Amino acid sequence: MKIGIIGAGNIGGNLTRRLTKLGHDVSVANSRGPATLTALAEETGATPVTVAEAAHGAELVVVTVPLKNVPDLPSGLFDGAADGFVVLDTGNYYPKERDGRIDAIEDGGVTESRWTEQHIGHPVIKAFNGTYAQDILDKPLPKGDPERIALPVAGDDEAAKKVVRDLIDDLGFDTVDAGGIDDSWRQQPDTPVYGLRAGVAAVTDALAAASPERPETFRA
Ligand SMILES: NC(=O)c1ccc[n+]([C@@H]2O[C@H](COP(=O)([O-])OP(=O)(O)OC[C@H]3O[C@@H](n4cnc5c(N)ncnc54)[C@H](OP(=O)(O)O)[C@@H]3O)[C@@H](O)[C@H]2O)c1
Repeated sequence: MKIGIIGAGNIGGNLTRRLTKLGHDVSVANSRGPATLTALAEETGATPVTVAEAAHGAELVVVTVPLKNVPDLPSGLFDGAADGFVVLDTGNYYPKERDGRIDAIEDGGVTESRWTEQHIGHPVIKAFNGTYAQDILDKPLPKGDPERIALPVAGDDEAAKKVVRDLIDDLGFDTVDAGGIDDSWRQQPDTPVYGLRAGVAAVTDALAAASPERPETFRA
């Protein structure tokens, strides 16, 4: 699959490493430009590109930048993407440590990923947001292994969700359907499933046990 990754940090870098190993054609971008991505490109075989080029021809675009930087992404971000392209969003809102106050999220109107959709102008599938970046490298297991970790996946487009769930399966993790983007508060920071390293049954239970109340620690 042709994949564009916007953000080459903890998550974007490790997705680049694993997805190139699986044989995908990966382009990767950061904020400082392709010249700063030569080491990752040499290590993985991914193509370093500008943000504006990242989605060119892509069937899947991964947006994995800090939430506060989402509004900085250029308009026309997805110009030239493949027909029916899918956007995977790994983002979390960390108002205290990183992102500052985002009123639309704080005041209860929208989930973090709905807010991201509104900025980038395209529906997203939310996954990996509660996954430790290092686990992407260290924790994959074959299908059927009783220790295999499951990841919650939320999104409104069932076909797009299937693309992401199949890819996560190829990466060595099970998935649990966590509903639509309006339900994705169940996997936001400080919920029972966030950071949970467990299989399908425990992840399903954790999603069900979530409270819609945004905890004090995750309010600005
Ligand atoms: N770290 C984790 O374990 C983890 C786990 C799950 C989810 N997440 C979430 O996933 C997202 C990414 O986290 P991370 O830890 O990978 O972040 P990170 O290590 O801080 O990396 C952020 C990346 O985004 C790039 N970036 C920032 N602004 C950009 C812009 N305007 N255009 C293009 N690229 C831009 C940065 O480029 P430069 O370096 O050039 O500035 C950097 O490559 C966050 O929302 C985070 O909460 C993180």
